[in-house]
Amino acid sequence: MKTCRVCEHPIEPFMTFGEMPVANAFINENDFQNEYFFELKPASCSKCSTFQIVDVPKPEKMFHDHYAYFASTSKIMTNHFRLLSEEIIKNYLRSIDPFIVEIGSNDGISLQNYSRAGIRHLGVDPSQNVVEESRAKGVSAICTFFNKKSSEKIIDKHGKADIIIATNTMHHIADIKKVVSGAKILLKQKGLMITEDPYLGEMIRLNSYEQIYAEHNFIWSVMSMKYLFNLYDMEIIDVIPNEHHGGCMRYYIGHKNQHRPSNRVEEYLEEEKALGLYDQKTYEKFHHVCKTSKIEILRLLHSIKKKNKNIVGYGATAKSATLINYCGISRDHIDYICDSTVAKQGLFSPGAHIPVISQKDFFNNYPDYTLLFAWNHKKEILKKEKFYTDQGGKWIEYIPKINIL
Ligand code: TMP
Ligand code: ZN
Repeated sequence: MKTCRVCEHPIEPFMTFGEMPVANAFINENDFQNEYFFELKPASCSKCSTFQIVDVPKPEKMFHDHYAYFASTSKIMTNHFRLLSEEIIKNYLRSIDPFIVEIGSNDGISLQNYSRAGIRHLGVDPSQNVVEESRAKGVSAICTFFNKKSSEKIIDKHGKADIIIATNTMHHIADIKKVVSGAKILLKQKGLMITEDPYLGEMIRLNSYEQIYAEHNFIWSVMSMKYLFNLYDMEIIDVIPNEHHGGCMRYYIGHKNQHRPSNRVEEYLEEEKALGLYDQKTYEKFHHVCKTSKIEILRLLHSIKKKNKNIVGYGATAKSATLINYCGISRDHIDYICDSTVAKQGLFSPGAHIPVISQKDFFNNYPDYTLLFAWNHKKEILKKEKFYTDQGGKWIEYIPKINIL
């Protein structure tokens, strides 16, 4: 029997996506035979309402020295973290020599701002290649998994943290209680932890089921975050939604009774209830939506291919691994996927083995149709690729519903 990673209550998956590869595991032709697969089954805990994947791959399968995701490929995200740093520097750094720790600091997209401002900081990330990239930006970072032990070491060397940032991280870590127990000791009494992840409410609203994949072990809601932090005598002080990564929620968290919580927290809990996030029936409906989406996407791709038009993918996103492999999209439908991340180029998409090539190749050889896998970067991409659209190139988007632009 499987149990919830937060409250340990028994959980049952409400559906299966079938055998899935690790979403960011772009692969070399020589390794096709040894590709790792696991069964992707989501569940919503009936006790604490934490949305989670039942069986997760080992962290070493996902975060390693050739981790393919470099956050700084997106200008919009770079700007987003600059704005967060301005907010933090202006409002929350009251001590004389403040110290900021970021869990999952990736390529330094966020910490570079504090480094430039001369503020003491430390990034913690288990993938060596992104840590090195962050150091090249002048960021201090260590390559390790964040937990109580690493927190103790950080405290010994640097003292406690005024701010702990964990953006797009909390949902990546299956052993999430280890992270919170580390944060609990590392955070100063009046300190603030700021986390940000894809938001369950938005996933349900948009039917964006491809948010569910190997690295997204959890899709957090205000309720499940509240439950988790309450176990460590911590509380959510404020919540602020944003549209990044297809709809995220930022959570401001502190030790209990050290800050005055905003009314927004209660308001969101009410809203989540009204949306059905705490009701198992919502997930049965969601399963139905997934099945319908699969049929519709394949029908559209087949109809385009029948007209002898070619289709390519835009953005070899981790998310698209779920869509591609669940729907059975293959090289019969899509010639290749173009992506600006050098580390992904020349490799093949996990599972379906669709070649990933550079964006220059897209420009040099415009396709008839482009499946917008990076739909969460739609604004940025459509602006960049205006020439393609002006030339009559067609975009296929599939979230919130299938649409040709
Ligand atoms: P993300 O949705 O996880 O941020 O991943 C976006 C992927 O799309 C990443 O591999 C980079 C790629 N990408 C492009 O190729 N071109 C672009 O203009 C943008 C914004 C992203
Ligand atoms: Zn639970």
